[in-house]
Amino acid sequence: MSATLDNNQSASTQKGAIKTDSVNKKKRRFLIAATSALGAAGAAAMVVPFLSAMSPSERAKAAGAPVEADLGAVAPGQLIRVEWRGKPVWIVRRTEDMLASLSEDNGRLRDPASEIETQQPEYAKNEHRSIKPEYLILIGICTHLGCSPTYRPDIAPADLGANWKGGFYCPCHGSRFDLAGRVVKNVPAPTNLVVPPHMYLSDTRVLVGEDGGASA
Ligand code: FES
Repeated sequence: MSATLDNNQSASTQKGAIKTDSVNKKKRRFLIAATSALGAAGAAAMVVPFLSAMSPSERAKAAGAPVEADLGAVAPGQLIRVEWRGKPVWIVRRTEDMLASLSEDNGRLRDPASEIETQQPEYAKNEHRSIKPEYLILIGICTHLGCSPTYRPDIAPADLGANWKGGFYCPCHGSRFDLAGRVVKNVPAPTNLVVPPHMYLSDTRVLVGEDGGASA
């Protein structure tokens, strides 16, 4: 009798153990699911403060918005770079001599009067291809296959020859542009470098990528 009882008790204990085990498994699955959900919610909650922690200029930059550049510290002859929509934009402060070179020997240029309209806004369709003669603003991407040309303001360097008056040289396939980004004849690049839309906010601040509708 006692053996039967023990057996029964043992069977019932085993059943209980199996049941408890299955309950524990369910609990474990629930806890894992709940923890994962909480983890995901926590991660999402962290992203929102992260985005809201970005400054307006960082958020705007991320969206490809216009970029402001300070010209106050740019020395005569110097080129500075900013980035707009993932592209390099050059700003060159041209000297008087550089500006004078723009009217020399224009017969060597393919589009000296900037007739190809896609390459600049209307307000940059002039000899210096800019709003203010002193400041040249260009997208620094070669119009041949998209390399970034080198700024070469030096006159007649040995590697570029006696006719070089300063400008931009693309070493990829040898395209040459003058100090207004106008392409020279008989090189692979078909058109002048692009002048992006831009506008001046003050004497020393320029906004690249926005011109208040002037180029529309
Ligand atoms: S990409 Fe500039 S010359 Fe070919």
